[in-house]
Amino acid sequence: MIQIKNLSFRYEDEMILKNINLNINEGSYTAIIGANGSGKTTLAKHLNSLLLPAKGSVIVDDIDTKKNPEKIREKVGFVFQNPEDQLVYSIADEDIAFGLENLGMETAKMRSTVSRIMKRLGIESLAKKNVNMLSLGQKQLVALAGILVMNPKYIVFDEPTTMLDNKNKKTIMAMIKKLNKNHIGIILVTNIIKDIKDSDKVIVLNRGRVSFYGNKSKLTKSVLKRAGLDV
Ligand SMILES: Nc1ncnc2c1ncn2[C@@H]1O[C@H](COP(=O)(O)OP(=O)(O)OP(=O)(O)O)[C@@H](O)[C@H]1O
Ligand SMILES: [Mg+2]
Repeated sequence: MIQIKNLSFRYEDEMILKNINLNINEGSYTAIIGANGSGKTTLAKHLNSLLLPAKGSVIVDDIDTKKNPEKIREKVGFVFQNPEDQLVYSIADEDIAFGLENLGMETAKMRSTVSRIMKRLGIESLAKKNVNMLSLGQKQLVALAGILVMNPKYIVFDEPTTMLDNKNKKTIMAMIKKLNKNHIGIILVTNIIKDIKDSDKVIVLNRGRVSFYGNKSKLTKSVLKRAGLDV
């Protein structure tokens, strides 16, 4: 479980997250929805130690994100909006192996892990391609593969489809759903109401505060409207 307790965060003098309290269960598919600038990315980055609370705490499976960021990043993967922010090496399979290499995994095991994950995502044919030559959708899948090789328990997707065309968007959304079926906890950040369709829980952020947290079936249009979203 991810526990967020009395979390507040500011950049310089502006309060961005205001006393957030949430528990995100293992294996759930949780959407975080809010208007531009409502604090979604700031909150999401707290889930894997990319940002640390100014006040309060974030605890992942009993580990405080402040105490052991390396361990937290193994448990919680983070897929950025722009896959180009995530790719390190120029050859796809080398890039995917990056995290395992850092862990010091033996070469044969690393290779077999990388090819198993590429197969799972249907991107085996990209193994030796230069990532700079790939489409954005393919880059996003390579970035995701680099996270899946680490065998995370949770994955945060920060608006993973905004840069993609409809076809690639469908592929990524279907993949996210499938990962959740395979028991990976999903936290999907979005500002598009349609994108929460596969989630079971929804968090609505409105100017740094949680204005709704619960089952998607309980979410009302007025909550979304008040949060500045187009319904
Ligand atoms: N590095 C930073 N330094 C200062 N202010 C920042 C920084 N990053 C974000 N902010 C501010 O924090 C607020 C929340 O930003 P955040 O990126 O979390 O919003 P968001 O909900 O993810 O928006 P979007 O939908 O546009 O991605 C915004 O007012 C933004 O200007
Ligand atoms: Mg954002």
